[in-house]
Amino acid sequence: MEKEKIKALYFDKIAKLKEYNKAYYDQDNPIISDHKYDRLKIEILNLENKYKFLKSKLSPTKNIGYKSSSRFKKIKHKIPMLSLSNAFSENNIVDFLKKVKNFLKLNNDYKIEISTEPKIDGISASLNYINGQLKLGLSRGDGITGEDITLNLKTIRSIPARLKGSKFPENIEVRGEVYILKKDFTNISNKFANPRNAAGGSLRQKDSLETKKIPLQFMAYSFGFVKEKLFKTQSEYLKLLKNWGFKVSQYNNVFTDIKDMMKNYIELESKRSEIEYDVDGIVYKINDLNFQKRLGYVSNSPRWAIAHKFSSTKAISKILNIEIQIGRTGALTPVAKLKPVNVGGVIISNATLHNEDEIIRKDIREGDVVTIQRAGEVIPQVISVDINKRSAGSKKFIFPHKCPSCNSKVVKEFNSNTKKKDAVTRCPDPNYSCQDILKEKLKHFVSKEALNIEGLGKKVIDNFWNKKLIKYSYDIFNLDIDILKKFDGWGEKSIINLKNSINKSKKISLDRFIFSLGIRHIGHENAKVLAKHFLSIGQFFETCKKLNINNHNYLDELYSIDGIGISQIDSLKKFFSNKQNLIVISNLINLLDIKNYKLLTKKTPLSGKLIMFTGAFENKSRSELKFLSENLGAKIVSSISKKTNFLVVGSQKPTTKKINEAKRLNVKILYEKDWNKIIN
Ligand code: IVH
Repeated sequence: MEKEKIKALYFDKIAKLKEYNKAYYDQDNPIISDHKYDRLKIEILNLENKYKFLKSKLSPTKNIGYKSSSRFKKIKHKIPMLSLSNAFSENNIVDFLKKVKNFLKLNNDYKIEISTEPKIDGISASLNYINGQLKLGLSRGDGITGEDITLNLKTIRSIPARLKGSKFPENIEVRGEVYILKKDFTNISNKFANPRNAAGGSLRQKDSLETKKIPLQFMAYSFGFVKEKLFKTQSEYLKLLKNWGFKVSQYNNVFTDIKDMMKNYIELESKRSEIEYDVDGIVYKINDLNFQKRLGYVSNSPRWAIAHKFSSTKAISKILNIEIQIGRTGALTPVAKLKPVNVGGVIISNATLHNEDEIIRKDIREGDVVTIQRAGEVIPQVISVDINKRSAGSKKFIFPHKCPSCNSKVVKEFNSNTKKKDAVTRCPDPNYSCQDILKEKLKHFVSKEALNIEGLGKKVIDNFWNKKLIKYSYDIFNLDIDILKKFDGWGEKSIINLKNSINKSKKISLDRFIFSLGIRHIGHENAKVLAKHFLSIGQFFETCKKLNINNHNYLDELYSIDGIGISQIDSLKKFFSNKQNLIVISNLINLLDIKNYKLLTKKTPLSGKLIMFTGAFENKSRSELKFLSENLGAKIVSSISKKTNFLVVGSQKPTTKKINEAKRLNVKILYEKDWNKIIN
């Protein structure tokens, strides 16, 4: 290559590096992956080594890059900032209202008030006002701990530095959404993928003067901690927010009738493009704050609210071929590989076909022209086939009879709940050696909700697997990471980052650890239920190991846990009967620091008590009673043993067998009014 061309190539790479450094260090908005960044640096160094005439002030040998300024201070939210569960149809909303009414023991025809608000697609923030003065502003962070971005938030004009008037609580966390107007986004659309990213990037600038350059807005809609609540409903609160000087949405409403809610949904969706900021649905909140308090939370989201997402975006594309993917539980999922198509701003090239029955029902074939839809975070789906566009030679798709990975004969299991065969085809993995299943287990293990090892994404796992660096989860912790220097795309920075994130992941809570094992039927909720019951990894492991010996005590113990049923127990039995799984867990126990599950530390009369409920109650639903008891430190069981402390009996349809069993085992029996005395 002639000198000028080499120079041009070199300076082109140097310019790119400069741009990436700026995005990473200055704008807190990396525009390429660590891998690509490292690769670029290596390419520059290689060129310099080969052609001695290449020199630049910005060479990675001279330039340490931009020094990353210290991160924002981390501060725990007084009340966690949770997320919302999603609804996509009127039926979902009907279910939501039904569940709420059941929980509150209200009649189905009770006209419960719902506050409806547009769901603004921005970044949430929490503002702490003490005596009306803005003292602290936090980002959501992981919901538990946020970042102190007070200075940046103070640059936003629609955030009052002082609350207007004099009628406000002494101490309140006002929560809402930071967003950017569509018209303001057009000026900076070259820098960010969408308005939401722009708001996020701008909010987290190290220098608040930079934040000020992008015109951010704030819309208030909820609260966290409040000392002396001056409002009884969400709609009252929204009015107060306005009086205090906040912007609140003009599209907020209160309805009691689902028909009005749906009408409002259709109206707002049709106005969507006219609204000056991005709205991706409607949030429905139970208006009465006392009801909200009673309803409480499940996992990460409140029982008293739901987000009704705007309808999905559809597009037409062609199925190039149908691939079978194998999941960590052995499920064979057919996936349509599509001619890439833009669906609402996202390029889609895969759509799930769910299972064999779905393919037969819709008669989906390779080469078909299909309509696909993408709804929120849900994987795109094929909704219909255009038969008219089908070619003459098209053939029906034959679902495989053998696992494409390990060649075992696939099965459809009999479901003892539905008394039918499952729709899902599975690789039974009789020797626990199906490579695809093992690989998927690894991906699950490192995923965000499990060990959360940043830098060890799906592609990296595939790569390490192919290089035979890892097979079981514990291999990750024994991996000689420096070996990666030999591989393409791995530079100093990405190696250090990976080492750090692997080390960080070693400290893990018991529920996350149980979830990370990837046991079928043991998702987040069940992992939490098991962690709450066993409290330590030792207890959990010892009991589960003994499920396969013929001692009923261990099985009974599991049966007694509220929320754990036959499918979970069968699955635990199967998992713990496999020697390799036992080796994996033993190794992980040695390598990791698995924290005991923390029960409520506050001592209450119910702390650590085992309680069972039977029958229906006069004033509260059984779900609410269970929820209240759990909040007071009790464990709910679903069968009686000598260890059970109380059997709480409702006046309607209690099970006589349970009452007799309690009497026989000397378990204390309580009725609703005794119970109310205790919890009050
Ligand atoms: S209320 C307990 N109201 O949606 C959660 N959230 O997926 C209370 N959001 O993190 C949130 N508009 O950032 C609420 N009117 C609204 C909202 C809203 C947008 C966002 C918020 C939250 C996310 C939940």
